Amino acid sequence: MPASASGSLQRVEVVMRDSGTILVAGRAGQLARCLFQLAARIDVPLVTVGRPELDIGDQASVERMMRKVNPAVVVNAAAYTAVEKAQTEREDAYRINAEGAGLLAKAARQRSLPFVHVSTDYVFDGRKSEPYVESDVTSPLGVYGQSKLDGETAVAAAHADAVILRTSWVYSAFGANFMKTMIRLAESHPTVRVVDDQRGTPTSAHDLALAVLKIIDQLTHPRVQQAGGIYHLTATGETTWHGFAAAIFEGLRARDQRIPKLEPIGTADYPTPAKRPAYSVLNCTKLERTFGVRLPPWRRSLDACLDQLVVQKEALTC
Ligand SMILES: NC(=O)c1ccc[n+]([C@@H]2O[C@H](COP(=O)([O-])OP(=O)(O)OC[C@H]3O[C@@H](n4cnc5c(N)ncnc54)[C@H](OP(=O)(O)O)[C@@H]3O)[C@@H](O)[C@H]2O)c1
Repeated sequence: MPASASGSLQRVEVVMRDSGTILVAGRAGQLARCLFQLAARIDVPLVTVGRPELDIGDQASVERMMRKVNPAVVVNAAAYTAVEKAQTEREDAYRINAEGAGLLAKAARQRSLPFVHVSTDYVFDGRKSEPYVESDVTSPLGVYGQSKLDGETAVAAAHADAVILRTSWVYSAFGANFMKTMIRLAESHPTVRVVDDQRGTPTSAHDLALAVLKIIDQLTHPRVQQAGGIYHLTATGETTWHGFAAAIFEGLRARDQRIPKLEPIGTADYPTPAKRPAYSVLNCTKLERTFGVRLPPWRRSLDACLDQLVVQKEALTC
């Protein structure tokens, strides 16, 4: 798919030197679409590919795509992200998140290409009460988290220099996410109840995409030596899902949109097939120390995204 600069109000503040073509797996996903949009705006050669042309769980498909695109860098933004459905679709979750991630990493390694992979805060069980660092013990509570953890292991085994970025609570103008669900509920429901006892950090896919490009720039113009490993990468700050919803509704009200009454509930009041960590705030200082990249406070980025959605209403139908 060729890059085209479709409208976004969000600022681009990354300057990249020529790194050759970046291949991004996961074309229709939030992160892939933000990467595509940013790359088009700053004139970086970047190709996004997804199913049916590329199935990362199929080695022949991965090889075919590597030959066709002949990239200089590979980013894995493809994943099985349906946290609840993963509990019953285990095979799919592991095939994509574990085996697929490993296959892509191996294909990049065989060609000596930098590889960036994205993982999740759900590798942790949430028993801590201060931000998790990369070396903390992992203990996923559900199939999605375990499959992503197995993916980290497979990627590291296949490609020792791979950069693995754990992020959390991703939202954007694209696809399905919590922010868009809240906006939809605000239009149709007088009262919305949201859990107030799970803490984490909402992270804008646009910010993530900017960070990924900055990291690639450093990987391809070796300022950073031996950068392979796991890094935490989220926005700054923390809240609960209820706090996130409150900020979304405040943002809607400030933009003259109708808002519902918001009520806090406990996890026990909203049982789901997959257990989620009660606390999954990530400490991102290792990434900042290594790559000099730090994401903005989550509320500031939420504002930028709401501008994109509310002021440009057509983005909702993307
Ligand atoms: N969303 C979050 O809240 C969150 C939180 C923490 C970490 N992460 C991680 O961040 C990364 C990006 O997430 P996201 O929110 O951008 O995900 P997303 O919007 O769910 O997109 C994932 C994309 O991967 C594609 N995909 C699935 N299986 C594939 C396969 N076998 N081959 C090729 N493509 C495949 C999907 O394609 P289809 O359109 O064909 O299904 C989808 O377009 C993922 O690694 C995710 O685990 C996400």
